[in-house]
Amino acid sequence: RDAALYSQKRTISIGTAANIDAFHADTTYQTIMGREFNILVAENVMKMYVTHPDIDTFNFIQSDELVNFARQHGMQIEGANLIWSNQVPAWITNGGYTRDELLGIMKDYITNVVGHYKGQIQSWIVVNEPLDTDELNQQSIWERIIGPQYIDYAFRWAHEADPQARLYINEFNTELVNEKSNRYYALTQSLVQRKVPINGIGFEGHLDITLQYPYAQLVANMKRFANLGLQVQITEADIKLQNSPHTLPEKFTQQATLYAELIHACQDIKQCTGVILWGFTDRYTWIPNFTHHPDQPLIFDNQYQPKPAYTAIKKALYGT
Ligand code: G3I
Repeated sequence: RDAALYSQKRTISIGTAANIDAFHADTTYQTIMGREFNILVAENVMKMYVTHPDIDTFNFIQSDELVNFARQHGMQIEGANLIWSNQVPAWITNGGYTRDELLGIMKDYITNVVGHYKGQIQSWIVVNEPLDTDELNQQSIWERIIGPQYIDYAFRWAHEADPQARLYINEFNTELVNEKSNRYYALTQSLVQRKVPINGIGFEGHLDITLQYPYAQLVANMKRFANLGLQVQITEADIKLQNSPHTLPEKFTQQATLYAELIHACQDIKQCTGVILWGFTDRYTWIPNFTHHPDQPLIFDNQYQPKPAYTAIKKALYGT
C-alpha cells in the first residue's frame, strides 16, 4: 500500500479477547497474550450468564482471573458486556419479571459488577448490539420488557457505579456507511443529545477477506461518529477467509492487508483509542462454531506461528 495514503501515525492500543478455556489449558496462550497486547477483554466470562448465574449469586471467579492477569501484565481491561440480548441467565429470561422488576435487576447487576471492578476496568461495553436484536432471533428481553429507555438507564447506572470508567456502546456490521450504521449513528446522536453518559462507540470488525480495501470508508464512517464528541474503537476484529481455499498464501496476504487497513484507519482518527481483536490464534476462535466451516480468521496460526497478518499489523504500528 502507498504509505502516503495514511497521515501521521499515532500510537494506538491493540487488544485481544481472552478465552478462559485456552487461558486455563495453555501456557503458550498466556505468554503470547501477555507479551503482544495491551488491552484484554474476556470473551465470555464477564457476561451476565456467568457473573450472575442465579438470582442471589454473583460469580467473579473466572473474570477475576483474567483481570488479575491483565493487571500483572500491564494491560488495560475492557469489560464486556453489561447488557446484551444474548447470554442472559435463564433465571431472567424465564422469570416473567415486570418492567419495574427488570429495571431493579438491571440496576442491581450493573451496580454490583461495575462496583466490583471500580478503578480496575478502564472501559465498559455497557450496551452491546442494541440494533436488530431480531436479526439473530434473540429479541432483547431488556428492550421488549423495558423499552428503548433501557439503554439510558444502563449508562446512567454504570456511570454512577464508576464515574471514571469510559462507557461504550457496541454494534456489528456498522463499520462502513450503510443503512445499519446510519441507524447506529441516529441512536448514538440521540444519546449524546439527551446527555446520557456515553464516552465511546464500538465497531466490532467481524469482517472477511472479500471486503477489499475499505480504508477510506472506514475512516469516513468512524469519523462521523467521532465528530459527535465521542471516542471510537474497533472492538472485536477478526477476518474470515470464508469458503475460499484457505491454504492459498494469497488469502493470507489479503487478510493481512485488511488487518493493516483497520490499524491505519484507527491511527488516522484522533478519537480512535485502539483496535481489539476477537482472539489472536486460529486455535481458539468462535468462527468455525458459528459458520460450521473451518477458518483461520486471526493473526497467529493454530501452532502459534505469526501469520502475514501479524507482520502487517506490526508494520502498520511500527513501520517495520
Ligand atoms: O459454556 C458452554 C459449555 O458448557 C457447553 O458444553 C458448550 C456446548 O456448545 O457451549 C458452551 O457455551 C458456549 C459459549 O460460547 C462459551 O464457550 C456457547 O455454546 C456459544 O454459543 C458461546 O459463543 C460465544 C458467543 O459470543 C455467544 O453469542 C462466543 O464464544 C463469543 O466469541 C461470542 O462473542 C460475541 C460478542 O460477545 C459480541 N459480538 C459478537 C461476538 C461473536 O458472536
